[in-house]
Amino acid sequence: MTTGDERRQETAPRVTRVFSGMQPSGELHIGNWLGALKTWVRLQDEYPCIFSIVDLHALTQPYDPAEMAGRIREMALGWLAAGIDPERCTVFVQSTIPEHAELSWVFSAVAPLGYLERMTQFKDKAKAQPENVNAGLFTYPILQAADIAIYRADGVPVGEDQVQHIEFTREVVRRFNNRFGETFPEPAALLSPAARVMGLDGERKMSKSLGNHIGLNDDRETIWRKIAPAKTDVRRKRRSDPGVPEDCNMYAWHRFFSSEEEQHWAAEGCRSAGIGCRECKEVLARNIDAELAPMRERRAELERTPGRVEEILAAGTAALRPLARETMLEVRERLGIAGRERYEGDA
Ligand code: AMP
Ligand code: TRP
Repeated sequence: MTTGDERRQETAPRVTRVFSGMQPSGELHIGNWLGALKTWVRLQDEYPCIFSIVDLHALTQPYDPAEMAGRIREMALGWLAAGIDPERCTVFVQSTIPEHAELSWVFSAVAPLGYLERMTQFKDKAKAQPENVNAGLFTYPILQAADIAIYRADGVPVGEDQVQHIEFTREVVRRFNNRFGETFPEPAALLSPAARVMGLDGERKMSKSLGNHIGLNDDRETIWRKIAPAKTDVRRKRRSDPGVPEDCNMYAWHRFFSSEEEQHWAAEGCRSAGIGCRECKEVLARNIDAELAPMRERRAELERTPGRVEEILAAGTAALRPLARETMLEVRERLGIAGRERYEGDA
């Protein structure tokens, strides 16, 4: 089966470097895994990859400064546990490389205001936090464009919700190149096949803030406690009522976690009322647990080595800073502002 998403990937221009980022929101869930991390883990074997914990972006949302360091650490742990391997890619914290913010300002001088005004994420966030509609929330995609361009990345694995921001990035880069000379590649979004995983409620996108998630740290018991009461096809009020698997979110999850045979068993059993929702969920819960078990193990192992996460992040910054600095030097030259001899952006 070929989905539109896969076609988009196939027709993407040749990728030479991958960049992606995630806000340090704390604990990761299976939506983050299927929609982003699983793809990242695969891509690190195919291209040079850079993955960033974007703490500067997180400033635009209400948060407690005392908790930020913990959230960053938690995100890094979650990534490493999920299989992001510092031997095969580079992981770092955005704010440790000041050139991101610097290029963001430069881009703000070419970014079209009208385009920013159409960003649905801004509109959604402004609605969600009406007491804190700050300018950073509005210019957020400009910083995102800078994140990608500072390393001249051309492939950006993201979920469906970020496609608009990648298109915006292309526009910004195009305008910069037109005005100041060819400097940056136009990046393509690399969509994962699971661009939108619904939560336990079966109604809204899985999200930590809605509490409808299964965490990547959840153990076997927790997974079952959450899945047992989860919503299924409403037609199946009794065990003997046949259902429509396509209308059941648990079946949608089977498609992510179960073998072809099990998917077939679940679909047929549902249609014929040959199996009950409980049996169906037991298999699903077991498969989710099996996929998460190695993550829990890797996490425990990392936690046994104090300082390891910090070391990995510091190595990422050290490896990337010269690249970012070199890009900024070229940008400065193109802009006709203080260049190589007067640039103090040294580490
Ligand atoms: P967030 O936690 O919303 O900042 O998302 C971090 C990454 O996970 C982004 O690439 C999202 O597109 C992806 N993601 C988050 N929630 C989901 C979901 N329910 N389904 C698919 N992908 C998701
Ligand atoms: N805006 C992205 C999100 O909300 C996170 C992000 C920041 C990002 N900079 C990026 C993603 C650069 C890809 C590339 O998920």
